[in-house]
Amino acid sequence: MSGDPEKGERVFRKCAACHAVGEDAKNKVGPELNNLFTRGIAGEPDFDYSDALNSIAEEKGDWTPEELAAFLEKPRDYAKGTKMSFAGLRKEDERADVIAYLATFNE
Ligand code: HEM
Repeated sequence: MSGDPEKGERVFRKCAACHAVGEDAKNKVGPELNNLFTRGIAGEPDFDYSDALNSIAEEKGDWTPEELAAFLEKPRDYAKGTKMSFAGLRKEDERADVIAYLATFNE
């Protein structure tokens, strides 16, 4: 699974009402998404996550591309009780592309 970050930037429009990423990104309805793969699941210190995502964090630690793809496909199935009100990305290529895009914001 290797996505195209440029296509992923366009997919991210579906997320941008709730998430920011990049320089000066702030928390919105959802947490900012910089350093997502190294900060730990539910790892934005100033964001109030659901118990659902906090328990997944305890169990799994860090987001991997595979875990993130599973979350983004059906957020409310992956994390029952999540605060992320988003139906999910049905298409595998859209998931791979947005993950590749988010990976460009990791130090
Ligand atoms: C959580 C990505 C769409 C609201 C998250 C997390 C990721 C993510 C990676 C976990 C963050 C972490 O572990 O720190 C995305 C992507 C989207 C998307 C790639 C588009 C494809 C949305 C939309 C909303 C939203 C549209 C608002 C309607 C939230 C909220 C959380 C969250 C509230 C916290 C969940 C919780 O604590 O259970 N999102 N998201 N997201 N997202 Fe999204």
